[in-house]
Amino acid sequence: MSVLDLSSKPLLTTACATSLVLLAVLSFTKSEASKPAPPAVIASKTIQTPIAASVPVVDLPPWSALVIGPARGKLEPCGCSGGQLGGIDRLSSMLGFAAPPDGHQAVRIAAGGVVAEDARAHRSWAKAQLETLWQSFGMMSMDMIGLAESDLVLMDEMAGVKVLLGDVPVVATNLLIEGTKLSAPNSAGETPFFQRSYQPPGGPQYFSFVPKAAKAQSTLGSGEDAKTIQWGAVDAVQALKTLQVAGIFDPSTPSVVLFEGTDADRDALGAFLGESGTLLRVNDEYEASHALELADGQSGSAELGTRLRYVVRLDSRDTGLTYHLNTVTEDVPGDEVLASMRGLYRMMLEVYGARDSFADSKGQAPLGGFVGSDACASCHQDAFEIWQESLHYVAMEALADDLRDGSPATNDPNCVYCHSVGFGYTSGYGSSSLTDELRWASLDGLAGVGCESCHGPGGQHAMTGAAEHIERSGEHTCLECHDSENDPTFHFGRKWPDIEHNNQ
Ligand code: HEC
Ligand code: HEC
Ligand code: HEC
Ligand code: HEC
Repeated sequence: MSVLDLSSKPLLTTACATSLVLLAVLSFTKSEASKPAPPAVIASKTIQTPIAASVPVVDLPPWSALVIGPARGKLEPCGCSGGQLGGIDRLSSMLGFAAPPDGHQAVRIAAGGVVAEDARAHRSWAKAQLETLWQSFGMMSMDMIGLAESDLVLMDEMAGVKVLLGDVPVVATNLLIEGTKLSAPNSAGETPFFQRSYQPPGGPQYFSFVPKAAKAQSTLGSGEDAKTIQWGAVDAVQALKTLQVAGIFDPSTPSVVLFEGTDADRDALGAFLGESGTLLRVNDEYEASHALELADGQSGSAELGTRLRYVVRLDSRDTGLTYHLNTVTEDVPGDEVLASMRGLYRMMLEVYGARDSFADSKGQAPLGGFVGSDACASCHQDAFEIWQESLHYVAMEALADDLRDGSPATNDPNCVYCHSVGFGYTSGYGSSSLTDELRWASLDGLAGVGCESCHGPGGQHAMTGAAEHIERSGEHTCLECHDSENDPTFHFGRKWPDIEHNNQ
């Protein structure tokens, strides 16, 4: 299987970069042949749900579905500490390992929700996420993709992106879009790009909902590049009722529903669908739930978890419905072909200039802005020396050394913001207020985790030395970066002594 040849990178001039990238992407094929051997241990849990017994007997053969949750821009775990979960290549292998034991085909569903919150306002960055993830879904032989709210940012460009998916249906039951080329309804009153439902032969019906918003708009990009799309989403139960009238939704057939929303939305949908329904929630919950939650007379519901960390398998058998949660751990060997998508993603970030588009995007920082750790040295010599001995000082090097197919993690805004000072602010790392040579260099005291990563912008304080112009910091600051994803075993009491610099 040939992967991208990065030696041809200099050919990617600005003008033709995008189409070249897409060409390269399209030359990938699905890789059923190169399945790696299963790991010795796969974390997997099976729960026999009591819901099963009371599901009305319908004329459907047993069915299985493998469902993955929203990626939220994460093709790979950050690699920050041991024990990382997730990653597109390991997820792809897991889809193979998590297949039903009796060997019959499972329908593969991606819940959607691929664009990260931070990327929504940055067209190129969001585009790189959407393109690489949707392309990956095609390579992973997904049968259906649900459309979630975060995907709507690039509504107008999705038609092009959908070419990458071929015939894989994108399902959004309750979405109405105005003023885009995707919006012209066909004779059935549907927008041609989206399907209302998906039903494999002999399987349950699948639906997906965008959170209800009578009239909402997504703005893409900023400044001259900005473009606004109007869209609306009707209430999920209302949408199902409409589909029932149109003969698309059949309440007597089991259905699997993907939705983003509140507990109240879940309860309303659950009551409407009744016990033959299964609700899978596509919210921002980092962890997936370990069982389908049940309430009398309602559909079972579960959270899918974000960032490609879980594969949920649903099976219907004579005994009823079972729910398996498969965790994508480090023990799962990565699928080689999908691993190359991580390199491609970084390359697209570079080509699209995603990092540069994020720099400056947050405007001015308060308290005189960021000035870099060098500006603190003269008055806090001891603190400065302790800091220079710490790994925080070299945190940007850790990103520069992290290469994926030749493209360093320093291109990914999603990595840079935790490994630098004030990224996104006019005076912060990467700011255009510095000269170009200095812009991305470590010399300006803004690369790496600096004094102001923990104490906030110190421009004014560095002039006055006044305590009220600077934050004291504490455990809460550490947890902004040493969070459950990047450093799950972080303990302030154990780590602070390594960098302690009180009263200095
Ligand atoms: C011109 C000298 C000077 C510079 C430059 C300077 N500081 Fe200070 N800093 C002081 C003085 C003096 C105090 C003690 C203020 C007090 O206790 O009233 C202080 C106190 C602090 C405190 C404790 C605040 C508190 O609430 O007790 C922090 C944190 C701090 N500085 C961080 C920084 C950082 C970060 C920088 C660089 C951006 C910096 N300082 C630059 C003089 C300076
Ligand atoms: C939310 C903050 C955050 C984000 C986002 C983040 N990191 Fe980190 N990174 C950390 C922290 C905290 C550590 C230190 C972890 C530890 O001590 O175990 C770290 C450490 C690292 C290290 C050093 C590991 C070592 O063994 O020395 C690398 C490499 C790294 N990160 C790469 C990345 C990449 C690549 C990304 C983007 C995909 C990323 N980081 C995004 C917070 C973050
Ligand atoms: C990783 C986060 C972090 C970094 C980086 C960091 N500090 Fe601190 N700093 C803290 C914390 C936490 C405290 C303790 C605050 C407390 O005890 O109330 C502290 C305390 C201080 C104090 C003493 C405040 C007091 O009177 O107790 C000063 C001064 C200070 N830092 C300056 C600096 C300077 C200058 C740098 C860069 C050379 C720096 N810090 C880098 C987190 C950090
Ligand atoms: C802006 C993000 C950020 C903040 C805030 C932050 N760290 Fe870190 N920290 C990192 C990164 C990134 C690394 C990894 C650097 C590397 O390995 O190159 C790291 C590494 C460390 C390390 C060395 C590696 C290890 O696990 O032993 C210690 C200790 C540490 N941090 C303690 C703290 C403490 C204590 C605080 C709060 C006072 C804190 N950090 C706040 C980003 C942060």
